[in-house]
Formats: sequence, structure tokens, C-alpha cells
Amino acid sequence: MMRRMNSSPASFQELWAPTTRANPLPLYARMRQEAPVVRVVDPYFKLPVWVVSRYKDAVELLRDSRFTKDQSKLPEDSLPRQMRNDTMAALNRHMLMADPPDHTRLRTLVSKAFTPRRVEALRPRVTAITERLLDGVKKQGSVDLLSAFAFPLPVTVIAEMLGVPAEDQARFHEWTTLIVNPPLDGDLGPLRAAGMQFLLYFRDLMEKRRSDPRDDLLTALVSAEEQGDRLTTEELVGMLFLLLVAGHETTVNLIGNGVWALLRHPEQLERLRKNPALIESAVEEMLRYRGPVETTTQRWAPQDLEFHGQVIPQGETIIASLLAADHDPEQFPEPERFDITREPNRHIAFGFGIHFCLGAPLARLEASIAIPLLLERLPQLRLAVDEDALQWREGILVHGMKQLPVAF
Ligand code: HEM
Repeated sequence: MMRRMNSSPASFQELWAPTTRANPLPLYARMRQEAPVVRVVDPYFKLPVWVVSRYKDAVELLRDSRFTKDQSKLPEDSLPRQMRNDTMAALNRHMLMADPPDHTRLRTLVSKAFTPRRVEALRPRVTAITERLLDGVKKQGSVDLLSAFAFPLPVTVIAEMLGVPAEDQARFHEWTTLIVNPPLDGDLGPLRAAGMQFLLYFRDLMEKRRSDPRDDLLTALVSAEEQGDRLTTEELVGMLFLLLVAGHETTVNLIGNGVWALLRHPEQLERLRKNPALIESAVEEMLRYRGPVETTTQRWAPQDLEFHGQVIPQGETIIASLLAADHDPEQFPEPERFDITREPNRHIAFGFGIHFCLGAPLARLEASIAIPLLLERLPQLRLAVDEDALQWREGILVHGMKQLPVAF
């Protein structure tokens, strides 16, 4: 039986409230109890969003090819399609906004650069960058661990892989922060401006690589574009944008949330210090316990679709909460327990299905180098403020702190 539901009996609108941002788990526990899918309204875009919170349902949604990631398949007058403006549309032509066969073609173009073997070859370079950053940190008595360490590491790595000059990195941070976490006050001006600057910057850099090829990902993509049928100019810009955003806004919070989890579980921290070989399984638990990507990106119903008895009307948005799924007691016994040796630990912090995170091997490598070196070099590492004073970021896509003040 298909049901139409105008509003869910319980309101989950406080998903965006600052208290929920600091700890979304109680709300997600209620949501998992309530229904397989509940409706909320995104306060920023004033857009209805259907949220899936149980583990099994999240996996099911992510393998459900009826839902699309391609906005052009939605009716002209649907809200998600109307909201597109030219600047953002140009940046949004990438694999995470595409269905097969475009998705397959785009992903294949870069997948070789992100295989575990290719990524493993970056180990010496990632270690060197980590060491250099820690030298800088050690010179100070206390720092914001995010801006001094967790952020510059992945940003430097992805910028080097792409071939973006180091001196441009600060500008990227401004743009990508705005684009990934738009302010909730409804003013789209700064967002559009950042999108436009980003676009112009990359057009320029691509031209440089065309006339002066180098051994980097940007040159490889430019040459794929020149072959005509493999990659359009728009898709090339979209690809760069996606890789940069993904490389800027995710691993920083894996390191941040991971260190935060260790500091509030001293016995687990001690275990890891005594046995650094546990780092790989510890990183998996960090991903499950407070993964940096709280919800998936949007999927849409190209026509009225039923999901677990609920009609998702044509043109409306559906997402899965990965954080909620990774705390589903049906899948993870005692989900609130942070256990760096948890086994099995089939979390979905990197998503699931055809859009499973391309950068997962890179993120895992970076965290498994950064965290042990940090603990080794700063044996007295501790929070420099009360836990309650920590501020968490707005928005439900990225889960992380604004700052992580530590002393050592
Ligand atoms: C801890 C760090 C990271 C986490 C938790 C993470 C998480 C995710 C998730 C959940 C998705 C799927 C979203 C969806 O289905 O809606 C995704 C996709 C993606 N991620 Fe990551 N990510 C991380 C780091 C990275 C890095 C470092 C890169 C590359 C530099 C990257 C590149 C991508 C790309 C290209 C996709 C799209 C894949 C596709 O559409 O086929 N990610 N990521």
C-alpha cells in the first residue's frame, strides 16, 4: 500500500539546531525508531528532504538505481532544478551528480590515481608533510589542531596530486568552505561569488597546463579533454571542483573527530599508544563513531517513487544519514561504545554502491599516518578547553568542529 504523508508525526526539524550539531545521535535514535524515512525541510534552501536513518535502509537507498543524481532528469519546475544557477551548475557537472553511463565514464578517468597501490606510493610524501606540520605545531604551546595540522595535511596532498601551486591554497579554503557549508542566513551572494572565482581560477590553470604539461592529475585530465569524447570542458572543471572539495572538507574532520574521540576515551588512547599497529582498525572505528560526512549528498525521485511504503513525490530529495546508519544497534552492538578493535565494523562512512568514496584509500592513508605521528610527537596531548566549549559546524553534510584547541 502506498502512503502519502504530509508531515511526519514527530518533527525532526531540530536536525539543524546547534545542540543537535554538537551531538546528533539522540535525534537519530528517535528517527530510526520513528519510520524508515522521515520528511524535514532544509532551512537554507527551504527544500523538503526525506531522510533515511536505519543501516539496512541506507544501504538499500544507495543501491537503488530508481533515484537519480542527475538533475536534468527532474521536471523543469521542480524545486531542486529551479535552484540551480549558472555558476553552481557549471561546478556541479561531476561524477557525484551523474548516473551511469556518464558516471562510469567520469569515474574511470581518475580511478587509477586513487587505487590503494597508487595511493600507498604517496606514503613517504604524506609522512614528510605530516612531520613538517608537526614541527610547526611543536614550536607552540597550544594550537587549534584543525587549522594547524588536520586541515593543511590533506589540502597539501590533494593540491600536489592535482598540480595546484601551494601559494593558492589559502584562497581555496575560503571558496570551498563557503560552497560546502553555505551560511544559513539565505544570502546566496557570497556563495555565487566564490563559485565564480573558483571557476575563473581553474580556467586559467587549465590553460597553463595545456601549453606547459606537467606530471600531475590536472595535465592528465586536460589531455583527456583534448581527446574530445572522453571529457568536456565543463566536466573537467566539475571534476577538479569535486576532488578539491572532497580533499578539503573531509579528511580534516576524520583527523579532528578521531583525535577528539581518542581524547574522550583515554583507555582507548592508551591502547593505541601502546600498540600503534592498531591504527588501521582505530581509523575504521573513528569513521564509524563520528564520520566526517554525516549525510550523503542528495538523490532525487525522477517520478513518484515508493520507498518502504512512503511515496517520495516526483522531483523531491532523499538522503541517507550515514552517521545514523553507523549507530544502528541492529548492525553495531553498543553503537555508542568507541572501541578501536571493533570487529566486524562494516560502517558506511564512505557511502555505498556506485558512488562509494573514490578517495577512501587516500583518506585512510592520511589518517593512519597523521594520528600515530601526532600521538608520538605530542605525548601530553589534551583538550585545551572544556568539551562543552567546542563548537560544531553548521549544516548536516559535514560533521566536524569549527576548532579543536589542544595543549601538549
Ligand atoms: C574521511 C574522508 C572522506 C569521507 C568520510 C568521504 C566520504 C564520501 C562519501 C560518503 C561519498 C558518497 C556520497 C554519496 O553517495 O552521496 C564520497 C564520494 C566521493 N568522494 Fe569521498 N570522502 C572522504 C575523502 C575523500 C577524498 C580525500 C577524496 C579525493 C581527493 C574523495 C573523493 C570522493 C569522490 C570523487 C566521490 C564521488 C564518487 C562517485 O560519485 O563515484 N573523498 N565520499
